[in-house]
Amino acid sequence: MRKSLSISALVVIFVAELSGILGIVYLRHAMDVHTSLFNTMVEQVFNAENDVEQIRSHLYKYEYNMTALINSSRIDKSATLHELAETELMIRNQLVVHSEIRKSMEYGSEKEQLFRSVNDDVLKYLNFNVVPLSMLDTESPEAISEYIERYIMPLVANVNQSIDTLSRILRVYIDTQKISVQKDLHESRIASFLVLVVIIFSVIVSIIYSHRVLSELEEKNRFFMRKSEASEMRISEIQYNTIMGIADLVESRSGETGQHVKRTSHLVNMILLQAKKKGKWADILTDSFIDNVTRAAPMHDLGKIVIPDAILNKPGRFTDEEFEIMKTHATAGGKIVHDIIGGVAEKDYVDIASDIASFHHEKWNGKGYPTGKKGNEIPLCARVMAVADVFDALVSERCYKKPMSYDDAFALIEREAGEHFDPDVVELFLELKDEIYAEK
Ligand SMILES: [Fe+2]
Ligand SMILES: [Fe+2]
Repeated sequence: MRKSLSISALVVIFVAELSGILGIVYLRHAMDVHTSLFNTMVEQVFNAENDVEQIRSHLYKYEYNMTALINSSRIDKSATLHELAETELMIRNQLVVHSEIRKSMEYGSEKEQLFRSVNDDVLKYLNFNVVPLSMLDTESPEAISEYIERYIMPLVANVNQSIDTLSRILRVYIDTQKISVQKDLHESRIASFLVLVVIIFSVIVSIIYSHRVLSELEEKNRFFMRKSEASEMRISEIQYNTIMGIADLVESRSGETGQHVKRTSHLVNMILLQAKKKGKWADILTDSFIDNVTRAAPMHDLGKIVIPDAILNKPGRFTDEEFEIMKTHATAGGKIVHDIIGGVAEKDYVDIASDIASFHHEKWNGKGYPTGKKGNEIPLCARVMAVADVFDALVSERCYKKPMSYDDAFALIEREAGEHFDPDVVELFLELKDEIYAEK
């Protein structure tokens, strides 16, 4: 539930950021198009303004030449007429340009109508000027002036008025457009800024949120790890206590107090730590191996469970037949270890416990039981167990014997180095003499 919520929140943030980025890209594009359209429009309006102003300046020149032609008899009329004709041609050419600009406008629009009226007025003016020119040779200057005053001047006023109106409208148009574009640009800038703020905000939120989700997950993970470690430790503690209990039970059948399993386990641990300190069997003696052997040692006589009480508690020496029965406890022990902890404990631990139970009565010289293995054929854990087991048995009181002194027991162990016991294990064991005395 929590996970799917986190995913949906992240999806929402992702979609928000994506749409924000797309929004900015779109706004940017719209601004570019808008600016480009505005530039084109401004250019068109300036062209149009330029065009009508040129028409106006040509008209002034035409008018000036016309007046000069009428009022001065000393002027070379043919030159002035020629100049007049040239000016007229320029005006007509300008009108062609003017018409081209007009064609790009929507027909019937206000601007198009104004362009048309300028065009018509100018043409009307040019056409009416044909009359005073034709009057030059026949009429007096006064008559021509009067004609111009009456008919031509209103036309000139018309043209000027049309051009003024057009210029003003173009100015207003360009100003309106400018304001509109500025407003659009301003709005686009605000929109872009807001989108940017939203993106930054959502990125920050997503970073904080992801960080929080991750921290929560890590915390939960740590919690479960602790719980799992604690329960693993509890299980292994229960397992160990159960094994110790069974081992005690087995020992108690033969009149032991249960201390034997604890003491031998401790001795085994001391010998292995001493070996590690001296760098012996470095490839085998890992911390986990030492721990496994120490925890497996109490199971060494588990097989005695199959030995009848009459033999187990016999005060005197065993007959050969009884001893044969007694010897079966080793093999039985190995099997029982597998039966009890085979399915629940780690394989290394089970193998070590089984080796200890099966081979702790083997001898270095091959004269032990149940298999007669010798030397290094006997697993190291069983060779160490043998020394610890025998030493503790020697110094303990049993139903069939008194306890031996520590000195005698150490001496016996030393004598048996290379016979019953691994000489290296004995050497390590003897190095621990003072410590063992101290713990007596
Ligand atoms: Fe035994
Ligand atoms: Fe024992």
